[in-house]
Amino acid sequence: MTRRVLLTGGAGYIGSHTYVALVEAGYDVLILDNFSNARRSVRERLARITGRPVTIVEGDIRDGAALARVFGEHAIDAVVHFAALKAVGESMARPLDYFDVNVGGLTALLRAMDGAGCRRLVFSSSATVYGVPDVTPTPETAPFRAMNPYGQTKILGEQMLDWLGRSNPDWAVGVLRYFNPAGAHASALIGEDPHDIPNNLMPFVAKVARGELDRIAVFGNDYDTPDGTGVRDYIHVEDLARGHVLSLEKLFETGQGHCVNLGTGTGHSVLEVIAAYKRACNRDLPYTIAERRPGDVPTVVASADKAAEVLGFRTEKTLDEMCASSWRWVCTTEGDA
Ligand code: NAD
Ligand code: WQD
Repeated sequence: MTRRVLLTGGAGYIGSHTYVALVEAGYDVLILDNFSNARRSVRERLARITGRPVTIVEGDIRDGAALARVFGEHAIDAVVHFAALKAVGESMARPLDYFDVNVGGLTALLRAMDGAGCRRLVFSSSATVYGVPDVTPTPETAPFRAMNPYGQTKILGEQMLDWLGRSNPDWAVGVLRYFNPAGAHASALIGEDPHDIPNNLMPFVAKVARGELDRIAVFGNDYDTPDGTGVRDYIHVEDLARGHVLSLEKLFETGQGHCVNLGTGTGHSVLEVIAAYKRACNRDLPYTIAERRPGDVPTVVASADKAAEVLGFRTEKTLDEMCASSWRWVCTTEGDA
């Protein structure tokens, strides 16, 4: 029997890659997205990659009536919930929007799922729930530390799901804490495509490589790290997408939830990322050393042991492959609608 999975926010960066991985794994997949941070052309691109028509319902996760319609019209076995606002700086300026979409939207979704008797969910969480971690590589047992409203919404989401599971053991929830997703699909048809000046390192470097921005500002080179610049655990988005397939399989197989980090277990500095991207694009990538970015931490690296043990998840792709796929993607995007 083919299982049907709803992806909220499935037209976005991580959701679109997960769509492909799930279709390739034999799932029947449906997307709900309001296109607040995605392009409509993703439908055609996903169809080209998978060779099948793509079902996208345009709607908002805060709209209970729309959600009830989706669950009423389609027999959905599980949901992967990507839809959220995700910019840390913006969350400081507009916290209510973050509470509204990330917490209110999750509540509306859970209510609709409960009403439809669909109680299997994979939730997009983030390494941001650890704030400034005391231990590196960071295990899932590290305490929650909110550093900004965005991080707080991910902590609240995890806590809501925990209490829900305690209230009704029919709920099976996979909480996936992503570290730093990077790279693009091998087809170069989907990838990360920020509308504005990117906040994150990899898309910023990509725009400098393309000549759209002049130079990279390296936020501090006096951290307690091997070369003084910030160290992060970059994970290829195709590896990340595969993690969702394994998480769903585990939920279906066991009926039990899990909470795991999705990272490689290895850190790379800002200067290492720039050097790797330079190898990929074969261009000069000018940078200057700037002030530290407020709220940044020296090192954030996942302990990848639990995901390996619980899901059998191991990453396969290197930083060089993340940069090469990102470069192929940004060279082929033409800024379509
Ligand atoms: P994204 O912005 O590319 O994707 C989110 C999608 O949700 C977009 O397509 C957007 O249009 C949609 N959306 C937003 N609000 C909606 C609403 N109210 N109703 C319906 N759809 C809505 O982001 P992404 O990088 O793919 O992130 C996906 C998830 O992973 C998010 O929950 C994010 O917080 C989490 N996450 C992302 C990262 C990262 O660095 N990219 C890291 C950790 C966790
Ligand atoms: C990486 C490194 C910067 C930009 C953020 C969120 C986190 C998660 C992933 C959603 C750091 C340095 C960056 C630049 C730079 N998102 N940098 N110049 O901060 O680890 O994580 O995205 O859940 O919640 O906080 O990622 O890509 O912004 O930064 O030097 O122009 O690159 O200081 O060391 P971060 P990032």
